[in-house]
Amino acid sequence: MIFKLTEEQLAVRDAARDFAQTELLPGVIDRDEKQEFPTAQIKKLGELGFLGMMVAPEYDGGGMDTISYVLAMEEISKIDASVSVCMSVNNSLVCWGLEHFGNEEQKQKYLKPLASGEKIGAFCLSEPEAGSDATFQQTTAEDHGDHYILNGTKNWITNGNSASIYLVIAQTDKAKKHKGINVLIVEKGMEGFIVGKKENKMGIRASDTHSLMFQNVKVPKANRIGEDGFGFTFAMQTLNGGRIGIASQALGIASGAYERALAYSQERKAFGVPIFEHQDIQFKLADMATRIEASRLLCLKAAWLKDQGKDYSQASAMAKLYSSKTAMDVTIEAVQIHGGYGFVKEFHVERMMRDAKITQIYEGTSEIQKIVIARSLFK
Ligand code: CAA
Repeated sequence: MIFKLTEEQLAVRDAARDFAQTELLPGVIDRDEKQEFPTAQIKKLGELGFLGMMVAPEYDGGGMDTISYVLAMEEISKIDASVSVCMSVNNSLVCWGLEHFGNEEQKQKYLKPLASGEKIGAFCLSEPEAGSDATFQQTTAEDHGDHYILNGTKNWITNGNSASIYLVIAQTDKAKKHKGINVLIVEKGMEGFIVGKKENKMGIRASDTHSLMFQNVKVPKANRIGEDGFGFTFAMQTLNGGRIGIASQALGIASGAYERALAYSQERKAFGVPIFEHQDIQFKLADMATRIEASRLLCLKAAWLKDQGKDYSQASAMAKLYSSKTAMDVTIEAVQIHGGYGFVKEFHVERMMRDAKITQIYEGTSEIQKIVIARSLFK
């Protein structure tokens, strides 16, 4: 076993770190306050190749490995988790799904602009009554020979308005339960496709979360990914990789908050000494550092398994379960270490604490990760 990153992986990490410091840090508090989608920043992220990192160069992607993706996600998330969720969804839910299960025509038409960052994608699984219980799809895709008629509502869709290409999961044959579900590529502008209300969120406030409505949307059959009935398997397999992205996002939020708390503990004095001299602060920082390192190893292990072509569903669920709890606990402690300053916006850690919470909810709640892990134990 070799714990060593390659020169290429280190270069990706450094480029992401540099981008986050120079392009994302200025304005991050303001964007959060105003719930302003970082359009210009996302455009630059795409130009640097961070929106289609793992896609093969022949489809305009970066041809990088999943380890590089984890490293980049950590660096971007240290500074701005609203940007990194857009990056994660585009990379691991939309591009990965299209590249691995789409046909050549779909890759040429849809994957290329997504991988180059020219367009942004969204993954549409959740519904008002189907969150954790993802097989309970009420959105329908009625088969009409050469096309489907799509009807229904999707909720909490990341990149809901900023996207122009949407992967929509819908039920075609109810009798077949989850084996009667399809995934369709829907383009913004198709008649009957309506972008609904924007959510006013606790965290990742600059990201673009909407409900979507489909009212008799005619979708060509050529836009179905995979065989008839493949949609649920598509969603589950895609989410296995998505969970590595969100685990890395949680890792980044935690390490960003920890770095701020560590620096603050050396500057701030109380009772005549920097607060770092107080043992309780040392213990907090020691726990934070240890849990962050454990999260990082879980994320890298899941990424490594994926790169090796091995089964990574259990590893990605473990990485997400552990890293998201770490993010929540570490950000709470970072606020505590900052005291009164931690409670105000200028010191960043209160935003990180708000951002951390969603990592325990989206792409499968912590409870769902435990189900995935528990079921894998019996295999
Ligand atoms: N990997 C691959 N296949 C999986 C899988 C996984 N992790 N989990 C389930 N499956 C497969 C099963 O093997 C089974 O296939 P077969 O019928 O061919 O054997 C099929 O899926 C159905 O599985 P179950 O019988 O276990 O179904 P279930 O209803 O009991 O439970 C679940 C499934 C794991 C709970 C699933 O519903 C689930 O993952 N729910 C969470 C959904 C989720 O993560 N939503 C996130 C929304 S997307 C998002 O948040 C994106 C964003 O914008 C940030």
